[in-house]
Amino acid sequence: MGYRAAYTRWQNDPDAYWLEAAQAIDWDVAPTQALFDRGNNSYEWFADAQVNTCYNAVDRHVNAGNGARTAIIYDSPITGRKSKTSFAELQQQVAGFAGGLAAQGITKGDRVIIYMPMVPEALVAMLACARLGAIHSVVFGGFAAHELAVRIDDCTPKAIIAASCGLEPNRVVKYKPLLDGAIEQAAHKPDFCVVLQREEEVAPLTEGRDLDWFDFQHGTSPADCVPVEGTHPAYILYTSGTTGAPKGVVRPTAGHLVALNWTMKNIYNVDPGDVFWAASDVGWVVGHSYICYAPLIHGNTTVVFEGKPVGTPDAGTFWRVISEHNVRSFFTAPTAFRAIKREDPNGEFRKDYDLSCLRALYLAGERADPDTIEWAQDLLGVPVYDHWWQTETGWTIAGNPAGLEALPVKIGSPTVPMPGYDVHILDEGGRILPAGELGAIAIKLPLPPGTLPTLWQANDRFHKSYLNTFPGYYETGDAGMIDTDGYLYIMARTDDVINVAGHRLSTGGMEEVLAGHPDVAECAVVGVADPLKGQNAVGFVCLTKGVDRPHSEITAECVQRIRDQIGPVAAFKKCVVVDRLPKTRSGKILRATMVKIADGETFKMPATIDDPAILDEIRDALKTIGYAGG
Ligand code: COA
Ligand code: AMP
Repeated sequence: MGYRAAYTRWQNDPDAYWLEAAQAIDWDVAPTQALFDRGNNSYEWFADAQVNTCYNAVDRHVNAGNGARTAIIYDSPITGRKSKTSFAELQQQVAGFAGGLAAQGITKGDRVIIYMPMVPEALVAMLACARLGAIHSVVFGGFAAHELAVRIDDCTPKAIIAASCGLEPNRVVKYKPLLDGAIEQAAHKPDFCVVLQREEEVAPLTEGRDLDWFDFQHGTSPADCVPVEGTHPAYILYTSGTTGAPKGVVRPTAGHLVALNWTMKNIYNVDPGDVFWAASDVGWVVGHSYICYAPLIHGNTTVVFEGKPVGTPDAGTFWRVISEHNVRSFFTAPTAFRAIKREDPNGEFRKDYDLSCLRALYLAGERADPDTIEWAQDLLGVPVYDHWWQTETGWTIAGNPAGLEALPVKIGSPTVPMPGYDVHILDEGGRILPAGELGAIAIKLPLPPGTLPTLWQANDRFHKSYLNTFPGYYETGDAGMIDTDGYLYIMARTDDVINVAGHRLSTGGMEEVLAGHPDVAECAVVGVADPLKGQNAVGFVCLTKGVDRPHSEITAECVQRIRDQIGPVAAFKKCVVVDRLPKTRSGKILRATMVKIADGETFKMPATIDDPAILDEIRDALKTIGYAGG
């Protein structure tokens, strides 16, 4: 069946479509119905089913006789370590670790925070939680203690599972001080922490709170899989919104299983046993869906790569991993390719490797610019598929369904909506716009299986953030258009979210941090274009009256403040002092105009601007930090 036929089949009978897809999952109690409409724009999928995610990702492959098949390939160019874990070994490790957690009192519904780098144990921890029906929340290692503390207070975990350190090419990131700092800052305290000690950093354990990863399993029995309701949260993943308070995206168990399993063949075109590699991090949604869950659920081998596209040791590291591990489908963010292209524009490193195993490259996480797509296509000689999705959806909204039918690629478009997604372009009043017109991208409710049903303990915020603007629709926060062939184009965010090196960040959150500086009276943070990272955050601060210190001192403190409170991942390095911020007469800061000035784009003088002369001051300030032609 081709794409159009599949999409039409879904449109005509969504319940039948998803119940059929659900047959690929091993249920404790099979669903009799797919969608449950609970009223007030609240929908549930497979609510009458019982199932366990870990069973489907691990045990069922062992039970089917595939225990010897490789589940995880760990490849760490940073440490030089490599290993392979079979499904049978993974089952033992996960059941053993879950047994340790259970002995400490972790049961179904308990929250567990996981703060770990790219090591196979991160997947073991996630799967062990799923085995017990505990709800994990993985926090990216590049976040600072404060961000971890915010998440601890929001999801009130009974336990935190951490490693002693993460490894960046230039440094060992000690997790223990971050963990201790976060627990100290948080009002909620976990009952216990489990620490995986790594060779590069042995962390001193806190007596009475911290347990060693291996020791705490001694004398406990391996845990069995606990069946949970289809709607039970599999995990919470925090993502950036318009403020400093991150949104806790809830992932429902059954829809997650059904949808992710569906994507592995239909989108990524792999069969069980094939090696699939997503070069991301378990701290992001791409890592949840495509490093941990989807490949394992589908019976694929997943690659856990602890390295960077460049510098570990060189710009050929991706090609080495693909050829050495026989990777069939490869998924990464465009910024990784821009980094490789910058280091090795002629693709010299690629010549050293046989990449005949690779069938396609998938890009997502940020806009894929045409130059990067074309360069990757020429270099690899395989189709390059851009696809668009979000933490909230957990899987592709629009993509090229290569396993169903590879559609012609139109560079600049992530192709077409997947079955399950009824995508429209709306004007400000919520009216559907015709092909070719730019507007807000919205998805008609209900969203498909696997997408967020709510935000963790913040249902009002869920409605306010996503459902209230366009009644009957989910507001994606992206703007774009659909062409006459039904291809979607993603142009920009409609909110204060920016995307730096494929990392989703909140400028509002950064402004809250800068505003906390004692010398800062007012501030604005905007995302300006960056040839490598897509966007970069730039801060403008106005000082409190009477402050008479060198500006360089204050801006350096601002930079440090963001690193300390949000984390190095914010990559916030550019900050400048200005006398005033450009505003409308009603006091709204003209951030979009500031971005245009920084990017050197022409713009229309906002009709409501209070004092146009301020824009020249902004231009001059930007020049001092290398923007606006400076
Ligand atoms: N733990 C601790 N620190 C981390 C971290 C982690 N897991 N990940 C990144 N950081 C730090 C980096 O060390 C860097 O610190 P520095 O300011 O001291 O140098 C800072 O955060 C910014 O990191 P990054 O944005 O990654 O920049 P970079 O210059 O180190 O690397 C790229 C640039 C393009 C190579 C890199 O961003 C990359 O590989 N991107 C791929 C994006 C990706 O996988 N996105 C996931 C969504 S698909
Ligand atoms: P995240 O939740 O971190 O996955 O970020 C989701 C956001 O990243 C989307 O709302 C888009 O703004 C952006 N994004 C993701 N994939 C793409 C893509 N293929 N093209 C353009 N923007 C994208």
